[in-house]
Amino acid sequence: MNVSVLANSLIGSEIIKIAHEVNELKSKGANIANLTIGDFDPSIFPIPSELKEEIISAYHHNHTNYPPADGILALRETITGVLKDRYNLDFNSNEILVSGGSRPLIYATYLALVDPGDKVVYPVPSWNNNHYCHLSSAEGIAVETSEETNFMPTAELLRPHIKGATLLALCSPLNPTGTMFTKEQLEDICDMVIEENNSRAEGEKPLYIMYDQIYSLLTFGKEHINPVSLRPELKDYTIYIDGISKCLAATGVRVGWGFGPEVVISKMKALLTHIGAWAPKAEQVAVAKFFSDATLVDQFLGTFKKQIQDSLDALYNGFQELKADGFAVDAIVPMGAIYLTLKIDYIGKTTPSGEVLKDSIDVNSYLVKEALAAFVPFSCFGTDETKSWFRASVGGCSLEDITAMIPRIKSALSKLK
Ligand SMILES: Cc1ncc(COP(=O)(O)O)c(C=O)c1O
Repeated sequence: MNVSVLANSLIGSEIIKIAHEVNELKSKGANIANLTIGDFDPSIFPIPSELKEEIISAYHHNHTNYPPADGILALRETITGVLKDRYNLDFNSNEILVSGGSRPLIYATYLALVDPGDKVVYPVPSWNNNHYCHLSSAEGIAVETSEETNFMPTAELLRPHIKGATLLALCSPLNPTGTMFTKEQLEDICDMVIEENNSRAEGEKPLYIMYDQIYSLLTFGKEHINPVSLRPELKDYTIYIDGISKCLAATGVRVGWGFGPEVVISKMKALLTHIGAWAPKAEQVAVAKFFSDATLVDQFLGTFKKQIQDSLDALYNGFQELKADGFAVDAIVPMGAIYLTLKIDYIGKTTPSGEVLKDSIDVNSYLVKEALAAFVPFSCFGTDETKSWFRASVGGCSLEDITAMIPRIKSALSKLK
C-alpha cells in the first residue's frame, strides 16, 4: 500500500456511480430527468443578481488578498444581525466562523471535538456523517429512523446510544428527506442531551450537538426550530452549521458559517487555518452586503422557494396519482430543503428482460434506463439496500422535466412483474 490507511479506506460515493450511469445515457443523447444531485442548475435557479453584482464589484475593488482566518468582520457582524432578526439568537462575532462553504465547518466540528474512538451518534438516512466519522476516526453510531417519524430521529430512538457519546449530529430540514423536526421532537432531544450532560462527571467531555441548518431558510409553511432557542442552556454545547449554498442557490460561491461556543469555534478556526479553507474574500464582502439587506434576501427567497415548492409539489402529486392508480409508490409531504422522499416498492419484481430487482440500487438503475428518471436510494445515506425509499432532488430539473417524467415512471413500473 503506497497511501495512508485513511486514504485507502475512504468510502466511495454511491451517488457518483449513479451520476456515471446518468452521464453515460446523457452522452448518448437521452433527455434524462436527473433528480440525483443536491445542487442547482444555474440556468433554472440562478443566484440573486444583486449578489452577483456585489461579487463582481468586490473584485473591482481588489478584495483579492487573504481574508482573516475567521472571516471578515463585516460578514460576521451581518451574521450576528441575521441570527438575532431571524431566530432571536445572540451570537457575537467571536462566536462565528466563516469558511469556504459549510463542509469545512462540519469537518472542523468533528476534529475540534472528537478524539479517535469517541462515539458520534447520527440518524440514518442522513448526509455524509459516515464520511466525517471515518475522517476523524470516530466510532459512528448510525441510528435508523423510519417513515413513522418522517425519518427524523427522536429522543426515544437516540437515548440508548448517547451514554458517553461526544457528538450528536442533527440536521433539519434534513438531507435526504426534506422533512423537519417538530417542536416536541427537538425539545425531547434537547432535554435528553441536558440530562446526559448533567449526569457526567466533572472534567468529562460533554455531549455536543452539531446542528446543521443549511436548509433553514428553505421551508414551506413550517417554522424552522433550533436547539438553543428551545433550550438556552444548550448554547455551550451546540455548534451550528449554516451558509448560502442552498438558500441562495449558491453552491459554487462557497460561503458558509458556523457558530457556537467561543472555545470550540476558536479551535475550529485554528484547524481550518492550517487547511486554508477560507471563503474567497470578494465573496465574503458581497455576502456581507447582500445578507444585511433583509428585504432583498426575502424577495429572492419568495420567488426561489415558490419555484422549488412548485417542483416538489408536482412530484409529490404525480406520485400520489400513481399511488391512487394502484402503483406501489408513495411520497412524504415536502416540508423543507430541495428534496422529496419517495417510496418505490418494487424490490423482488422482474424486468421485461428477466432480471430480478434485488435491492433499491437495482430499482434505481431500472428507472434510470427505462423511465429516464434518476433518484438516489436511501442506501446512499446509510439505510440498508432492502428499503424502498429514495431521495428526489429538484434543484437540477425544470418543472416541465418533472411533469414529463411521471408518465415515463408509470410506463416503466407497469412493465414489472
Ligand atoms: C445537510 C447539508 N449540510 C451541508 C452541506 C454542504 O454544503 P456546502 O456546499 O456549503 O459545503 C450539504 C450539501 O449538500 C448538505 O446537504
